[in-house]
Amino acid sequence: MSNLVEPHGGNGLRALLVPSTERAEELKRAEGMKKVPMTSREVSDVLMLAMGAYTPLGGFMNEADWRGVCLDMKMADGLFWPIPITLSCERALADSIGAEEEVALVNAESGEILAIMQVTEKYAPDRVLECEHVYRTTDTDHPGVAKVMAQGEVNLAGRVSCLSEGEYAQAYPELYLSPAQSRARFQQNGWSRVAAFQTRNPMQRAHEHLVKIAIEVTDGVFIHQVLGKLKPGDIPAEVRTKAIQAMIDHYFVPGTVIQAGYPIEMRYAGPREALLHALIRQNYGCSHLIVGRDHAGVGSYYGPFDAHHIFDTLWDGALHTRPLKIDITFFCNKCFGMATGKTCPHGEEDRIHISGTQQRAMLAEGAPVPREFGREEVIEILRDYYGSQVPA
Ligand code: ADX
Repeated sequence: MSNLVEPHGGNGLRALLVPSTERAEELKRAEGMKKVPMTSREVSDVLMLAMGAYTPLGGFMNEADWRGVCLDMKMADGLFWPIPITLSCERALADSIGAEEEVALVNAESGEILAIMQVTEKYAPDRVLECEHVYRTTDTDHPGVAKVMAQGEVNLAGRVSCLSEGEYAQAYPELYLSPAQSRARFQQNGWSRVAAFQTRNPMQRAHEHLVKIAIEVTDGVFIHQVLGKLKPGDIPAEVRTKAIQAMIDHYFVPGTVIQAGYPIEMRYAGPREALLHALIRQNYGCSHLIVGRDHAGVGSYYGPFDAHHIFDTLWDGALHTRPLKIDITFFCNKCFGMATGKTCPHGEEDRIHISGTQQRAMLAEGAPVPREFGREEVIEILRDYYGSQVPA
């Protein structure tokens, strides 16, 4: 009997990957079906469905679920869900698909067939309404809004059977854990209270501090990074995984953290995405999610603590995974160490705040990165990536 937090929905994990013994046959069937091309975001959602990270979803959302999720963060049956998981296509293709027809879902970039979907509903979603509620803006400079606005006109809904684990399973065999696998790892370690640290960046000292705060109050931390597509300028996953490993090897007690990755594509939806991150981590078996400053935000669309406050608006039982809310974290010259807005009484003039964006600029320009900000072993790897020789 597991004492980890139960998967979302309360009925166990639901992974939609077809057993390997049946995949070749299903793939042959899929080749004869109409092909629906998927964007990278839709591909990432299929991979999330395949591994059970979106438990208990059985496929892409219909109109009633889409609307309830946008307006009230609730599926039609009342289940908590904060961001629509939908598949879109052009009107002409949608019109050619008959009632209950099975179609092949194809990665538009690689041409690979990833899944079969039985189309049970077609609807034209109000994309402006979706952006207003989910992203709190309709500004197409927001990378998540831009993707919703660029979607095909019609959403296709229905049950999905997945035929592939996708590219990341092969590229990152050690890191690509399914919720069933992370749960097994936590149990092997004897962990029941596990905090997840969601990240899309190499770890600098503020991240290290957040994770160490969590280690103090839980059994261990699941450093869980995005392997899906990011916005231009974000550091690619292959560099980040190495940088994170360097941080773990040099600055963490062995056995206190597990590094892993998952195939989601960032939507940059700030507070709503923080809730999705928590829901997903519930499926992975994590009792807590670290939520720091401007979690999953972009630009200045969200306040620094909007992602903290949104957890307080949920109804009882919506989500079992709890936020571990942590204030802005920095190095303070007067404290002479890492601190947060909650623990440091000194002024801004004593605090060293460097955003990921500023760090990227320093590395790109060959400027030195202060030791108060980043660990040398990590900076080294990032320097190699930027190909610049930076004087120490
Ligand atoms: S993201 O997916 O949330 O965008 P990112 O790597 O930028 O990933 O941040 C990872 C986590 O660290 C988030 O919870 C974020 O709020 C938190 N975080 C990052 N930097 C700081 C900081 N200086 N102070 C407090 N929290 C931070």
